[in-house]
Amino acid sequence: MLLQKIFQSFLFLILVLHNIDCDSCKEDGEFKISCSSYSDLLTYKNPGRLKSAKVSILETFETENGVKELFMCDESTFQHYSALKYLDMTKSRVVYLSANCFKGLDNLESIKISDNELSEIDMNTFRVSEKMQIRNIDLINNKILDIDLQSVNLPDLTSLKVTNNSLTSFYLKSENVPKIVNLDLAQNYIWRFTIESLTLTYLDLSFNCIKAFNKGHLALPSLKRLHLEGNHLSLINEGMFENMPKLQYVHLNHNLLHTVSLSNLNLVFIDINYNQIKTLDRVNLKFRQHSSLHLNFNKVFEMMTTTEFGNLTELICNFCNIHTIELYFVDKISSNLESLSLRSNLLTSANFSKQDKKVLI
Ligand SMILES: *[C@@H]1O[C@H](CO)[C@@H](O)[C@H](O)[C@H]1NC(C)=O
Ligand SMILES: *[C@@H]1O[C@H](CO)[C@@H](O)[C@H](O)[C@H]1NC(C)=O
Ligand SMILES: *[C@@H]1O[C@H](CO)[C@@H](O)[C@H](O)[C@H]1NC(C)=O
Repeated sequence: MLLQKIFQSFLFLILVLHNIDCDSCKEDGEFKISCSSYSDLLTYKNPGRLKSAKVSILETFETENGVKELFMCDESTFQHYSALKYLDMTKSRVVYLSANCFKGLDNLESIKISDNELSEIDMNTFRVSEKMQIRNIDLINNKILDIDLQSVNLPDLTSLKVTNNSLTSFYLKSENVPKIVNLDLAQNYIWRFTIESLTLTYLDLSFNCIKAFNKGHLALPSLKRLHLEGNHLSLINEGMFENMPKLQYVHLNHNLLHTVSLSNLNLVFIDINYNQIKTLDRVNLKFRQHSSLHLNFNKVFEMMTTTEFGNLTELICNFCNIHTIELYFVDKISSNLESLSLRSNLLTSANFSKQDKKVLI
């Protein structure tokens, strides 16, 4: 009797679990759906009307069911999903995508395939037909070794994110991606690259293996913000940045820089924290407007300079081992300095003359 009851509740439990399995999709309004497995998404009753679909496989759900589903696809997989604009495949055990996987998704604008196990990706996957006009591709947190953009045209692509993969090189030309604006290549192993784009305004190459480059490697006439922090750069000079005349924000922290010379640029912000700058004379910058220079955690020792920084408004050199500050220093470096921060240095006295506005020490 007791055994029978246990058996019955066991059966009931299996039925409940089975039900969850078959119906893991949650609708959110008329056009949006979120499922816990691909088989559920791909058997959804009304695929042609969906504009947004998301699959995220819960670890607990999988262990309860004892099955680990791997995503596989071919040209018929998404054939009935022609209205889909947004597809989110984050953390859903994608190991490989065949080049015709997204056939039929002619209206797809954004795709997220982050947190998966991809080690290769054929970029033609995102242009499986002439009609496809993809704008945003997110491949963050995979193990991709190479992205070949030279044998594909993605005429509408504006944003490509490949953060935290295994790239060692990267090549991009305007003709293949004529509308690209944002390119995120942080946390790879890149040391060889040539990026030429007329439209790119944001480039993140932080935490890679870059030791040096020249003006031919970054030809980006519209670039405004450049992230190069966490590399192995020891020198920055005018020539290297010659083909990026519109740059305003430059992140160079956590490198091995002893010299930074970029006086031709009209910068608003430059971060040189955590480098090897030993004297301000090795920092050659001419600010033309309201601007900020960050030099924390360098070993500057003396606040003295023969160069002046134009219209610099904020200078920060905390933890710089500074023991001396030159008389009239503030007046000398900039006629517009509003804020000077020298926290946690070795200064015992400082004589500021023409009382400098908002000096913080
Ligand atoms: C980078 O991706 C790996 C998986 O490829 C992941 O385990 C790791 O947490 C990611 N790192 C960061 C900082 O997100
Ligand atoms: C600083 O600003 C003033 C007023 O805007 C301008 O005339 C001057 O040329 C600027 N200096 C530099 C070095 O750009
Ligand atoms: C600061 O420098 C000025 C100009 O040289 C000098 O007149 C003044 O006595 C100095 N003040 C101190 C406290 O050393």
